Amino acid sequence: MYAVFVCIGVFAFVNGYVNVALNKPAYQQYQYQPGDDRYDANNVVDGRKSDLSRDGGQCAVSYGKQTATWWVNMTTIHSIHHITIYFRTNNKPLGPSNYLTKYVLGFSVYVSNTTDKLQGTLCYKDDNFTLDTIPAVFTTACPVHGQYVIFYNERRPGTIYPGDYSKYVFSDLCEVEVYGCPTTGYFGFNCSVPCPDVNCQYCHIETGTCHVCKTGYRSYRCELACDKGSYGSQCKEICGHCRDTDQCSNINGTCLTGCDAGYQGNLCRTGE
Ligand SMILES: *[C@@H]1O[C@H](CO)[C@@H](O)[C@H](O)[C@H]1NC(C)=O
Ligand SMILES: *[C@@H]1O[C@H](CO)[C@@H](O)[C@H](O)[C@H]1NC(C)=O
Ligand SMILES: *[C@@H]1O[C@H](CO)[C@@H](O)[C@H](O)[C@H]1NC(C)=O
Repeated sequence: MYAVFVCIGVFAFVNGYVNVALNKPAYQQYQYQPGDDRYDANNVVDGRKSDLSRDGGQCAVSYGKQTATWWVNMTTIHSIHHITIYFRTNNKPLGPSNYLTKYVLGFSVYVSNTTDKLQGTLCYKDDNFTLDTIPAVFTTACPVHGQYVIFYNERRPGTIYPGDYSKYVFSDLCEVEVYGCPTTGYFGFNCSVPCPDVNCQYCHIETGTCHVCKTGYRSYRCELACDKGSYGSQCKEICGHCRDTDQCSNINGTCLTGCDAGYQGNLCRTGE
């Protein structure tokens, strides 16, 4: 019994953040032999990474194309700390003698709120590794909020790449672990400290600095309600025709003392 508690304690200390991508829905472009689960995108978030071969059923496998895309949908916006990627290696070290190595060079990792990487944050773009230096397990920090982690690689016609690079790319990943907090509104190594500013919705995972205020609040520390006449998420909505302009709810825009003559509805937007 005692040993069990010690183990859990050590594990929690070594691994304070949780893998919020585990068993979440995943997708890859150009799956190899579509319908064959051995090559499915979801293998990358199944927690298994003991067999990094093509047919071991623990990796995503694609056809070689000019672009490769794989993503995981964490289903809600999460506060992320770092991302770890296990490339497919066929259970051999990566390096010049492993033919898989050249396909990995040039990869990038994004966090986004949609499946469009360009709407998100670029966490890492490889323009540094060579056949000799690329690691089989790669970790990048990415302390942002987002719902999708997207792996991308490309070989564009007409673009000149370093000599080490392959002609085509693949989304052949065996595991992607996205370490962060299971719920938003908390920060710190164990995700146990509430964001310091009471009206903060999303704060920095390490420092607690507010990134986004709760609906109806604004300013650096979210201490201010929306300005008179505005309300809602990031105070982007404009109040309707309230009888008293300062009696519009900062949160949902309801006119608390009713509408101006000639207007109706909760938001007093319907004219007569
Ligand atoms: C991601 O997951 C959410 C929640 O389950 C779902 O509503 C959304 O449609 C998913 N996105 C995609 C692109 O499948
Ligand atoms: C996702 O949306 C949240 C809330 O609006 C925002 O704070 C965050 O920066 C967005 N993430 C990315 C990667 O754009
Ligand atoms: C660049 O590659 C070297 C190994 O050659 C590695 O030690 C270093 O961390 C890499 N830098 C980045 C920013 O990935």
